[in-house]
Order: sequence, then C-alpha cells, then structure tokens
Amino acid sequence: MALSYAEHPALQGDFEPSRFNASVFDCEVVGEIPAGLDGTFYRACAEWFYPPKFPDDSPFAADGMVTALRIADGCCDFTSRFIETPRYLANREARRQLFGYYRNPFTHEPEMQGKFNNLDTASNTNVIWFAGRLLALKEDALPMEMDPDTLETKGFFDFGGGYKAPTFTAHPKVDGRTGEMITYGYEAEGLASNAIWIYTVDADGTVTSERRIAAPYLSMVHDIAISQNYIMIPVYGMVSSMERLREGKVHWGWDTTVPSHIGVLPRNGDASDIRWFDGPQMAMVHTFAATDRDGVITLDAAVSDGNPFPFFPDVHGKPFDPAAARTTVRRYTIDMNSRDAGWREEPRFQDKPGALSRIDDRFMGHDFRYGLMSFSDEFQAFTGTGRRPTNSLGRFDFATGEVETMFAGPEFGLQEIAFAPRSPDAAEADGWVMALATNYETMKSELVIGDTADLAAGPVARVRLPFKAPQQIHGNWVPAWSRNT
Ligand SMILES: [Fe+2]
Repeated sequence: MALSYAEHPALQGDFEPSRFNASVFDCEVVGEIPAGLDGTFYRACAEWFYPPKFPDDSPFAADGMVTALRIADGCCDFTSRFIETPRYLANREARRQLFGYYRNPFTHEPEMQGKFNNLDTASNTNVIWFAGRLLALKEDALPMEMDPDTLETKGFFDFGGGYKAPTFTAHPKVDGRTGEMITYGYEAEGLASNAIWIYTVDADGTVTSERRIAAPYLSMVHDIAISQNYIMIPVYGMVSSMERLREGKVHWGWDTTVPSHIGVLPRNGDASDIRWFDGPQMAMVHTFAATDRDGVITLDAAVSDGNPFPFFPDVHGKPFDPAAARTTVRRYTIDMNSRDAGWREEPRFQDKPGALSRIDDRFMGHDFRYGLMSFSDEFQAFTGTGRRPTNSLGRFDFATGEVETMFAGPEFGLQEIAFAPRSPDAAEADGWVMALATNYETMKSELVIGDTADLAAGPVARVRLPFKAPQQIHGNWVPAWSRNT
C-alpha cells in the first residue's frame, strides 16, 4: 500500500508535490528584468502526481512536468503542465499509482506488466528546442513532443522513423556552429542490454547516421561530450542487470569493483573505430564540454569519486558514502596519439561543488573557455535545516581558473543554471544567467536573474511565483530569435 503524501518522507518541504497545472499571467517582479531578455525558459520537472509505490524509490521516477517562463519587455508569464505520458494517463484513470521502482517494469502493478515496453517513461529529465520542436526527454524512452506555447502533449517522436533505438538520451549535444545533433540511446537492444546506438541528426531533424556499439558493461550513460572531432562516452559503476530487475530492485546499483571507462568515437568514424580508455572508480554523470587539438582531447566534467545517488544503493551492501558523492569539476586529458589506454585527471575549482554543469551552448563542439554551474558556496551564511545548500551561480573560467559568482542569498535554494546570450553574436558567456529557486522563508519559488557583466552585484531581478513550482531536473533558455529561424 503506497504511503500518503503526508506520510511519505521524500515528499516534504521543498519536495512537496504540486499536483496542478498552472498559468500565471504577469508575475510579480522585484528589480528589473533586462530589456534585452526575450525568450522562454523551459524546465523539465519531476513531480509525483500519486505518491511512489515504494517509499525508497528514486525521485527520478516521478511524473514529468514542463514549465515555461516566458520573458519579454521586462515581464514574465508562467505556465506549467504535466506531460500526458501513457504512464500518467493510466494512473489518472485508475486514480492511483500503478508503477513500481524506477525503470523496473517487473515491479509495476499486475495490470501494467509488459503493457508499455519502453514507453512507460516519465519523460521528466530535460526539455530542448530542436528542429522547430519542443521535446521532453528521458533516457529510458523516445522523446515526447510538446506544444511550445500551450505545453500540451503531442506524443512520442522518432524523427520521422529515422531514429531506431527505443531509448534516447536526456543530454543530446548540438554542435554550436553547424546545428548538427549528436545523440544516442543506451540499453538500445532491450532492458539491461549494453548496446549504445549513436546517431547524428542534421539541423532540420533528419537522421544522417547510425552507429551501434557495445559498452564494456551495462552502466548508466546519462551524458556524453563532443569535441570538434570526437564523441566521448563515459561508462562507470552505476550498473544494472536483468537479474537485479527480476529480483524487484530499483534499476541502478553502485558497484565499487568495476573500473571506469571513457569510449572515444570519431565523429565521422565507424562503430569499429571506438577506443575504450580505462581509469579508477568515478561517476561522470554530467559533462561541461570537450575540445581537441592535434589528437589530444580535453574534457571538463562534474565528477564524483563514488556513488552520487543515495537512492541507488551499493550492490555489495556498503553504506552510502557522502564524501565519495561530493561532485566537483575535473579536467580529463586523453591523448589519441598514444597507445596508453588511460587518461589524466586534474581537479579544478575544488571548493565549489556542483553537479549540473553547463556551457554557453553556442560553443558546444568547439573551443570554449567558460563553464556555467549552480553550486554550493560553503563559505556563505546558510540558515535553516534540511535545505538544499545550492546558493550561488558561477561563471568558471577554464583558462585562468577564476570564478565569478552570484550569491542568491541565504534564503534561496537554486536549481540548475540556464544561460541567455546577450545577442546571437555576443561574446562567449556574455549575457544573463538564471535559475529557479525555492525561497525557504516563503516556501514559494522565484526565478533569480543575474547579469554576467557583474555577477557579484547579485540578482538584477527576481520573478516571484505565488506557489512553490515543481522540482526541476534540467532546463534550457530558448531565445525568441531561435524560435523564428
Ligand atoms: Fe542530467
């Protein structure tokens, strides 16, 4: 019997679900929204419409919801809407939770067994604008197309049949100059398979290539990186198997006994051209970006030494280690000219832990200088209990090692940073940063906006919502100019 909302330990405070679709016209603004900021901040969120069947389930199994903050002329309108996945609609019809552990169909209620195959997704992880479509993404299924204005659900999207894998990553990479998408699905030959199918899609949405590779073992492949000439695919100890799924466990478990790997595939190569590099235990859940010169690849990522997710337990029963979960910025160097199958790892910005690493996406797949990340400034005052300590937005200069930071205030818990360029051809990372925040004094949400010209001055504007908005996993700023092309 599922716990009620009030009984459930994971549905309290900042994580209390908002079970409604909302529309707020002309939100209250404190300060001044920059006149040049014109576009929409789309957010992919995970909200439990019905409480999870199992109290220890992963929050990643919660229902998908998309919110849109539309900004123009110094004003902001807010819209949110649950994604009407087959899963969400089935739950509504039954008026209860029919689905079990995160990505384990064997734990669904009997009437849902085998019903949707790979389409029992929650579609809750990312939302992107690509080839004139708004796509909600989760790595266990195909993209879900949404109406960009009303946020109504249109249905699963497979690029006109050109995309063959049953799964599609939440972190496709779009080359900032050519508009080409490099994307993939893992567990591409069925549940618990180690197959990764990699695709290129042109800027118009036409699939132009497919390469099928096998990972050294089945692991979470949540994110990849691209450089000018290569695709980097991290594989690490977040593992699964049909055996553990049949035993009724949550999809992932952490295995300290397996090595980590980074696969390197030439962007224009065949599947057989992949080289696997090896290294010690780590979890590279998110990358910033990568670049290469003369066959030497540098890859910047937010990485932990061990399991970053307490809700995916150790497969050998070891207790969760918070120190090993601390996620920091690191640079990896891989020399394609060498026969060495290892990499070099260098710590960067170690006093600014954060997991949601971004760049100015106009520079994806090319030389870049800046990383952007919401992070925990551990030296700032912080009040209250049980509150998320992500209190700052940072622009990280990989060339000089300097960081410019905006402290949002001790009462705010920030979600992922989004970046809005000042103009289509503005200098790299010049523009505005923003993040949705929970104001812990009011327990309502605010959009915090800063100007990269002076981050230290603090937010230039805060957009106040009359409730606590749903919990974001990832989001993206879509400039008005990109909607018109
Ligand atoms: Fe992610």
